[in-house]
Amino acid sequence: MKSLIILFLSGSVFIVACAKNKIENSTMESVFKEINTNSDYTFYKNDSSILPSSPESAHTAFFRVRFNAKAASALTDNGKLPVNGTFPEGSIIVKDLYNTQNGAKVLYSVLKKDSSNPNSSNGWLWIEYEPNGKEIYNINDKGAGCISCHSNNDRDNVRLFNLF
Ligand code: HEC
Repeated sequence: MKSLIILFLSGSVFIVACAKNKIENSTMESVFKEINTNSDYTFYKNDSSILPSSPESAHTAFFRVRFNAKAASALTDNGKLPVNGTFPEGSIIVKDLYNTQNGAKVLYSVLKKDSSNPNSSNGWLWIEYEPNGKEIYNINDKGAGCISCHSNNDRDNVRLFNLF
């Protein structure tokens, strides 16, 4: 009987762990779709040029940043989020990353505002993908390694506005 209970308990733990993984994977997949198939993105300062990253960046040498419509609606300070402002729920910010200015995209770094999601940190989901959709930085790492660098500002953890 005791071993049956143990078997049952470990089985439930396994099922709960699987269900949790499933939710995380489906979020990763749906966010990847959102950054690729939605056409409602606006480039920072309406400029789609690929620029050299700042020396403070841990990312690749070149980048450009785009905002979905929800995120763009908060850019009321000459195209920037006002100081002490916050992005609305559902905002998505995508950093398209390149090794050279004319080269192919090598990575996407993504922030999605989803404060009630248990994987969010500082209100954001933190994710990175290869162009084929393979996850390089997983949401369940909850921004570890990203946040120390991204939280040094008063614009909702977004670095760009004080640098460009
Ligand atoms: C060493 C500092 C550093 C680390 C670590 C870092 N970033 Fe960034 N990130 C930057 C800087 C600086 C920018 C501004 C653009 C630039 O200079 O390239 C930026 C820009 C971005 C942007 C565009 C929006 C914005 O904040 O400007 C996204 C999205 C992003 N990073 C996601 C991530 C994710 C996800 C991680 C962790 C996997 C991460 N970053 C780790 C420094 C960092």
